Amino acid sequence: MAPTPTAPAAAGAAETVRVPITVDLGTPVGVADPRLFGSFVEHLGRSVYGGLYDPADPSSTPEGFRADVLDLVAELGVTVVRYPGGNFVSGYDWHDGVGPREQRPRRLDLAWKSIETNEFGTDEFIAWCRAAGVEPMLAVNLGLGDLRSALHLLEYANHPSGTALSDERVGNGAADPHDVRLWCLGNELDGPWQLGFRTAEGYAEVAAQAATAMRMFDDTLELVAVGSSNADMPTFGAWEDTVLDRTVELVDYLSCHIYFYNDGDLAAFVRSAETLDAFLDDIAGRIRRAKEAHPAARDVRISLDEWNVWNYRAYDDLKPERRFEQHPRLLEEEYTLADAVVVGSLLQSILRHADVVGIAALAQLVNVIGPIRAEPGGPAWRQTTFHPFAAAARSAGHTVLATRSPEGSDVGTTVTLSPDATTVEVMLTNRSLSTAAVASLDVAALGAWRIDRVDALWDDDPLAANTEADPERVVPRAVPAGLRDGLLTVALPPLSWAAVRLDCTKGP
Ligand code: AHR
Repeated sequence: MAPTPTAPAAAGAAETVRVPITVDLGTPVGVADPRLFGSFVEHLGRSVYGGLYDPADPSSTPEGFRADVLDLVAELGVTVVRYPGGNFVSGYDWHDGVGPREQRPRRLDLAWKSIETNEFGTDEFIAWCRAAGVEPMLAVNLGLGDLRSALHLLEYANHPSGTALSDERVGNGAADPHDVRLWCLGNELDGPWQLGFRTAEGYAEVAAQAATAMRMFDDTLELVAVGSSNADMPTFGAWEDTVLDRTVELVDYLSCHIYFYNDGDLAAFVRSAETLDAFLDDIAGRIRRAKEAHPAARDVRISLDEWNVWNYRAYDDLKPERRFEQHPRLLEEEYTLADAVVVGSLLQSILRHADVVGIAALAQLVNVIGPIRAEPGGPAWRQTTFHPFAAAARSAGHTVLATRSPEGSDVGTTVTLSPDATTVEVMLTNRSLSTAAVASLDVAALGAWRIDRVDALWDDDPLAANTEADPERVVPRAVPAGLRDGLLTVALPPLSWAAVRLDCTKGP
């Protein structure tokens, strides 16, 4: 018999339930593309300036990149980063952001009512990606921008040399082409807040033209068409169908965005992953039907290239009376324990859809609704949401196995197996606010014989957060866990998230 761990008393649980979970080895969900652990950097507030780039910071590299942020990005396990927006891209002229810094123009950024200095542009972003060891994902401007400007950026970035634009890049210090494979055809063009927003038919036509032209340059590019900005858009669904009908033979991904909000109803907020499950299932169904209707369709998958918890209704940042400042503090959300549990459960939902989602990007990376915070001349630290992301990112490239919890259970489980079958990662969310759980899983058939590590997040205060003064208020801790005769048992306090790594190499 396996020992029965007890959930930590600190969590104040009135009762404990036992939750037997079945792991189905026969029908894996799919392989978790490493790009599921992407993120997003926009010219917005202090995401770029003061986040990625701060030449005045004592920690900065010779290029002006914050080294402490680079270290945290590596620890987070981010694989791909989308840039430069977001709403910003729809008013951005990429050419303003290349060449000698002193000649780059200051511009108004209407999306975020800010002043853009253009000190940081495409070449700096690519250099930052190389320093961070992440893949770049560039968005072209299909809002106010035209197709010619998009093609010029592609030529500037990817053509080796011998043309005016490629030689300009070489002259700017980048001798080798940037070789960017992933390109977003605009951003949120279904939204009336977007510069140059369009009807579904209007966007579908522009996206088809852009994809066709970009493929004339390089047919191996991976292209992402714009899907709905969120599931509450009145055009959600119809937009996807129209765009897919026109582009399913031309693009590789359909994007979608979703943010979750804690309006004080914690019990509802912790069930956010159910909404994400339904959102992804709906879009996956539309993609499947579009493929069936178009025999020459490409193998289109979902690019969930903005997702996160974002309590945007709680901030004044978006008020219309805000006036143009340079690199203002915007959307500097302080994430709580409850937010971290939700982010962990959303990562599980993404993994559960590994068969249909090929890219996912936590929006955003630093300072602006990010898992990393950095202060000028001060420290960089991990927000609560950093921890579930870093733990889940260990499943990059793993096979996601199907699991089944008892009907009505508050415990959500995800199990992944490394390609060499030596490691199993188990992720668990306890959504109950009052009841502790002891989850049990039979992992004997996977050959698991030893618990390698346990990283759990819980706290007596669901609103506990990490701050500059107390950056380690919420960090992963152990919970009682046991593995005997192939049965894994994990004690989960109320409102908690846990990642357990099991060793499947041959036991002693
Ligand atoms: O991530 C913040 C904003 O959210 C992005 O600019 C936009 O694409 C979305 O609405």
